[in-house]
Amino acid sequence: MIGMKNLDSVKEVVPQGIRVLEAAGKRFGFQFNWRPFDWGCETYAKTGKMMPADGLEQLQPFDAIFLGAVGHPSVLDHVSLWGLLIPIRRGFRQYVNLRPVRLFEGIETPLKNWKPGQIDFCIVRENNEGEYSNIGGRLYEGTDDEMAVQQTVFTRRGVNRVLRFAFELARERKKHLTSATKSNGIIHTMPFWDECFHQMGTAYPDIHTDQYHIDILTAHFVRHPDWFDVVVGSNLFGDILSDLGPAVVGSIGIAPSANLNPEKEFPSMFEPVHGSAPDIAGKGIANPIGQIWSGAMMLRHLGAVEAANTVEGAIAETLAEGKVRTPDIGGQSTTKDLGAAIATLVSRKR
Ligand code: IPM
Ligand code: MN
Repeated sequence: MIGMKNLDSVKEVVPQGIRVLEAAGKRFGFQFNWRPFDWGCETYAKTGKMMPADGLEQLQPFDAIFLGAVGHPSVLDHVSLWGLLIPIRRGFRQYVNLRPVRLFEGIETPLKNWKPGQIDFCIVRENNEGEYSNIGGRLYEGTDDEMAVQQTVFTRRGVNRVLRFAFELARERKKHLTSATKSNGIIHTMPFWDECFHQMGTAYPDIHTDQYHIDILTAHFVRHPDWFDVVVGSNLFGDILSDLGPAVVGSIGIAPSANLNPEKEFPSMFEPVHGSAPDIAGKGIANPIGQIWSGAMMLRHLGAVEAANTVEGAIAETLAEGKVRTPDIGGQSTTKDLGAAIATLVSRKR
């Protein structure tokens, strides 16, 4: 059972994600029971709420949530996001935001001389605490003395659980974990993060670890993207790195993400990294691959590993072939054309 959040991009990328997942289900012999929820900025315009007060209770029985993008210029960003996306991530303890970065054949990158296969890493972003905290406030509003304070919150439990996930993931991959820090400038929370990283590392002697301050790390993403296997970072650092990584490999429209509760106590949520792109919304030209690839991550999380691999293979093949491309990757095809091309391959691919 999948709770599909019927949000602002529902007319575009989400139906293509569903189409490809349905094709995978048919091929591998399982069925989806989709249930759309009409929550988002349009609902906000009518009701003043992004989701009903019991939204999380409504979603809880589902196996997973397949989410489009949230946000519209008519609603302040912090209102739309703190009214929907962030409460779901927190309420369901989706403390890992997993964001793979891969260079595909057929995608032009702003970098020179990199070949597919050479850039392939995962960002593990802490997704429940850190810099994204609602602890703080303002004083003396509207006067010259006005001030704003926002507290970063790092808990040992919160840091350790995301680090543990990252170490385990590195173990399944190339056994190399990089930590994003800034303990030279941020002198309380970041040294704490570093200490937790080192302590956790002692339990994983087989994993090669390194750490960089976030400033030089962004430079390394551009200059040496082949250095990375798994990169773990706090909520804000992971957010920044997960736009930079996809940009380096060619298109943010392709990047997927999985908001995971690894213990499966609550549903996990799968959404593209890109936002609601109001500049092209409604035109039918958005790249659906970020949504479709997020669907593949959902399949993997639900245990349908072969189906997940098939969907990812179909994405890679469609991109390599290069016949069907949306404008962001240099073509003139529509969202639907690209969804259809990938779905067809999923149905046929052996
Ligand atoms: C993301 C987005 C969100 C975030 C915004 C929309 C709040 O940028 O998922 O990366 O920062 O988490
Ligand atoms: Mn982001």
